[in-house]
Amino acid sequence: MVTPAAVVCGIGGHVPERVVTNDELSSMLDTSDEWIRTRTGIRTRHVVEPGGSTGDLAVRASEAALRSCGRRAVDAVVLATSTPDRPCPATAPEVASRLGLNAAVAFDVAAVCAGFVYALATTSSMITSGIVDSALVVGADTFSTILAPTDRTTRAIFGDGAGALVLRKGQREERGVLGEFDLGSDGTGVDLITVPAGGSRQRSTGSAPDETETYFTMQGKPVFVEAVKRMSGSVTAVAARQGWGVADVDQFAVHQANARILAAMAENLGVPVERFARNIERVGNTVAASIPLALRDAVDGGSLSAGDRVVLSGFGGGLAWGSVGLVWPDLTPAESEENRAEGIPR
Ligand code: UT7
Repeated sequence: MVTPAAVVCGIGGHVPERVVTNDELSSMLDTSDEWIRTRTGIRTRHVVEPGGSTGDLAVRASEAALRSCGRRAVDAVVLATSTPDRPCPATAPEVASRLGLNAAVAFDVAAVCAGFVYALATTSSMITSGIVDSALVVGADTFSTILAPTDRTTRAIFGDGAGALVLRKGQREERGVLGEFDLGSDGTGVDLITVPAGGSRQRSTGSAPDETETYFTMQGKPVFVEAVKRMSGSVTAVAARQGWGVADVDQFAVHQANARILAAMAENLGVPVERFARNIERVGNTVAASIPLALRDAVDGGSLSAGDRVVLSGFGGGLAWGSVGLVWPDLTPAESEENRAEGIPR
């Protein structure tokens, strides 16, 4: 019997309309456009309006992805997020219902900025083992809702957004087949990226948390070093398992955490930085949405085409990281509203 493969057949994304510029942040916090641009590469980020949610963004990205491949239905919705609409239940079932997919397999995957690759691995396994024939894999986060209002560092970096790929059952020889994965974690780094309160460890104390403990915190410097090390190693492992040299990879769709991380990885790997998909200037760090949004914008902008060898790689809280390789399929992305509004070419 021939083992089926999981094939990428659709792509879409969505960011909220509200744009926050570096100058706007500088009017509220002790920061500057110059610091943010030179230390991170970010110029703008998008944030949800009051009452908006991760699920709202996930629905919009999923609709765009389904539209891009002319599908109305899939068997599963797997949502990577660490800012669910509620602590319980998962957000994916409601997203599936809002898409009209009432009986779909639907659950969330929590691996922070590596979440999208973990969700791809899980979904790919469900397809190759015959549990489902098709799926939406969505990465969506609204970190603007968990940042401390006075934290100039995290507020400069993070933005909200969602990105989605549609997967279908196919053959191993096709373009778009999800190939080799590399996944890993190191829980000794749990405190480097964390929201200390709100989980069982704090709630079991029976005391209300200090307000500061309810916000996201990150120790930027060690996280930067780990991000470069782990993603460089993971990308190299995937390229080798695919039977490629790192220099053979046409496009690296790497988590958009900091433009300097992309530059350091390019130097480490000995490849031109131009091969790294890059939309951090416009959307900042969108956590689980980062990789699919970078892919969508690379396709929209013409730097990623059918037949290109691509490696996706994510790293973040956990610590957790993951990468996957594929030969990019022939996709027509549904034109994104914000790209059209901002005059970014398809
Ligand atoms: O998505 C998950 C994975 N996340 C990452 O990979 C993020 C990795 N880390 C980073 O990208 C960087 O470490 C940051 C962008 C978070 C910070 O950049 P940095 O160059 O490592 O700065 P730093 O934290 O060492 O801070 C340097 C200085 C400090 O001032 P002093 O102590 O030298 O006086 C900070 O207080 O810059 C200051 N600073 C700022 N100044 C103006 C920090 N944030 C800001 C800001 N505006 N927004």
